[in-house]
Amino acid sequence: MGLDVSAVRAMYPALSDGYAYLDGAAGTQLPAPVIDAISAAHRSGLGNSDGAFPASARSDAIVAECRRAVADLVGGNPAGVILGPNMTTLTYRLAAALARDWRPGDEVIVSRLDHDANIRPWVQAAGRAGAVVRWAEVDLPAGELPAGQYDALLSERTRLVAVTAASNILGTRPDVAAITARARAAGALSYVDGVHATPHGPTDMAALGADFYATSAYKWSGPHIGAVAADPALLERLRPDKLDPAPDNVPDRFEWGTPSFADLAGAAAAVDHLAGLDTAAAGTRRQRLVTSMAAAHEHERRLFGVLADGLAAMDKVTLYGNARDRTATVYFNVAGLAPRAVAGHLAGRRVNVWDGHNYAWELAGALGIRDTGSAVRAGLVHYNDRSDVDRLLAAVAELAG
Ligand SMILES: Cc1ncc(COP(=O)(O)O)c(C=O)c1O
Repeated sequence: MGLDVSAVRAMYPALSDGYAYLDGAAGTQLPAPVIDAISAAHRSGLGNSDGAFPASARSDAIVAECRRAVADLVGGNPAGVILGPNMTTLTYRLAAALARDWRPGDEVIVSRLDHDANIRPWVQAAGRAGAVVRWAEVDLPAGELPAGQYDALLSERTRLVAVTAASNILGTRPDVAAITARARAAGALSYVDGVHATPHGPTDMAALGADFYATSAYKWSGPHIGAVAADPALLERLRPDKLDPAPDNVPDRFEWGTPSFADLAGAAAAVDHLAGLDTAAAGTRRQRLVTSMAAAHEHERRLFGVLADGLAAMDKVTLYGNARDRTATVYFNVAGLAPRAVAGHLAGRRVNVWDGHNYAWELAGALGIRDTGSAVRAGLVHYNDRSDVDRLLAAVAELAG
């Protein structure tokens, strides 16, 4: 049946403030069921983990349900879902755990397409281990990350390949499956950053060939928490730093300190919300997620055509990237204007967009715009509608028409 955007929008209280929220790539708004789930968790009484009383059991149940929900969203195994404050923190943690086995002369491969959160933790861990860092380069101006280059980058010394499932500025979706297959054939692990990709369509980490798949709930209508999914058998091989009395089982030993239980309840509710985006979706939650996220993808794809074509028709607009497979994310400049000035003008027209490198630090550098404020990013998610796009196009046309 597809997605009824008016019905979806009605679930998001924040969207009634009259702004066009085209800043979803930096964080989405929360629908009422998610806000309610967070508040209900607090109202019901929460205790810390592993106690003898019901409030503690409620917290443990929330953690277990959040693992199941994230596993359903990404096509993973709940027993391998590590929960934490955000993707960056979890990635640093996993980089430290994985690098314990790295030896001088070992190699890791990062990509210039990635957000810095899937670059710097690996570069720094490699530096400490004496490992060599190899770079996969972006083919500009298209913004593709050709998979074929990995043949030359991989060797029998490669321990890890870190790659994004989608660029958070250009939207490029590289052929992750082709890259991870090459990594596996060379005996290397793959760490796939799904933070930008996850909200834009169905995710199947097994089909992507990802040994680790990272995602952040606040990009898909949830609160500010992150998760990394992996095969529990793989996690069993890793020994992260941890406190002596803290649980030593997988995945708990990767989770430091007391989690934000109510937010985990919110993240699980966000997955339920996504599963219901297409009201005709049926079956298990995983099946409904696949149907609903496909509907969200189709909705975004249609609107994106209007957005991208509208901007491309303006003489003074430069658009960056044009990958064959991409999310509904545009990155652009208006001739003669700083990106912050364009974003400020749009804010005055009640349009929320980001300006800057958005931590795609290497890519902004490769594009040659990092020192000049980079560019403006506008992104669509499932709750954006035609009026959001029209408002952005009208406001940019005032500057660039
Ligand atoms: C592609 C991508 N990777 C990683 C991150 C970092 O995620 P977190 O804020 O959860 O650390 C972001 C955040 O914007 C992102 O867009």
